[in-house]
Amino acid sequence: MSTRSTVILGTGSYAPERILSNDDLAHMVDTSDEWIRTRTGIRERRIAAPDQAASDLAVPAARRALEDAGLTPADIDLLVVATVTPDTPMPACACFVQQKLGVPTHSACFDLNAACSGFLYALDTACALLGSGRYRKALVIGVEKLSSVVDWQDRTTCVLFGDGAGAVVVGCSDEPGRGLLGTCLGSDGSSTELLCIPRGGSRAPSTCESIAARDHCIRMKGKEVFKLAVRGMDEAARDILEQHAVRADQISLVIPHQANLRIIEAISEYLELPMERFYVNVERFGNTSAASIPLALDEARRAGRIRPGDLVLLVAFGAGLTYGSALIRW
Ligand code: COA
Repeated sequence: MSTRSTVILGTGSYAPERILSNDDLAHMVDTSDEWIRTRTGIRERRIAAPDQAASDLAVPAARRALEDAGLTPADIDLLVVATVTPDTPMPACACFVQQKLGVPTHSACFDLNAACSGFLYALDTACALLGSGRYRKALVIGVEKLSSVVDWQDRTTCVLFGDGAGAVVVGCSDEPGRGLLGTCLGSDGSSTELLCIPRGGSRAPSTCESIAARDHCIRMKGKEVFKLAVRGMDEAARDILEQHAVRADQISLVIPHQANLRIIEAISEYLELPMERFYVNVERFGNTSAASIPLALDEARRAGRIRPGDLVLLVAFGAGLTYGSALIRW
């Protein structure tokens, strides 16, 4: 194992301007503000403009992270984008971001898909590559334009998701005990059908009929996913704490994947850690999948919720079913 630690040098986020409120949704499908708020905690979500692709959301988030780190795109030699909604199936969203941001051509740029756990997978990948000594500075982005894959006629899913982006700049440090202390990633591929986009891939390319049936959109068995999300995030949190011999009450702030307020409240209860130690913004953004943790992390930092020396726990769960956690000494 490398002795070099990896530290987050800067954070940034971006959410598109347009706000879609619960009342707006009540005009589109048979739902109500009251139902959405009490079941999910969500009040509104952001929706990208039709001409905004995922890379257009990622670039301003990345610029803010670079500015926060006091760096420029020229300093980056590794660019990892976590997303399930890339600009196009090919090439990678990371290549569009590279071009728009002006990241040098000798940089390694690629996408990674671990759904809502994607940012933690990307962070772990980038930190491992930096630790190898082959790269110096990484830009790790979580971005989604989920509005492009939401079935706007399905009230069981369309109320949950939103668009946004978050980014971090990661570098190496010789200061021991600081930065990313560890990660815990996992996946259970036995329940892929619980949360998926059934068509549009190599197994079942889109046809006129499948598009008319909106089978290129998100499908979810909400009740089952809810239970597995609570269990998966609780286990991922416990595993990383145990690995590092850290008690839950030593954590200054938990940044959970923002899918549903009730999931976060259940984890708070299981870990016996009060809700004040959890950063929550799901009420304003809904579930932004891979963007949710870096977006919340950036907000929390800028709001002064994270101070040097704090222990921060990131924890996620998503389609796959994937899960993950990361422990950071800020
Ligand atoms: N507005 C009004 N009623 C709705 C509705 C909506 N937007 N969506 C569903 N309903 C109805 C259902 O049709 C059902 O009606 P019925 O009893 O007549 O059949 C009723 O509300 C209850 O539905 P149910 O699915 O049991 O609700 P729930 O309490 O499980 O809440 C979710 C639904 C989606 C909010 C919840 O299951 C959830 O959050 N799941 C996890 C989702 C998630 O976070 N996924 C991503 C993880 S990364």
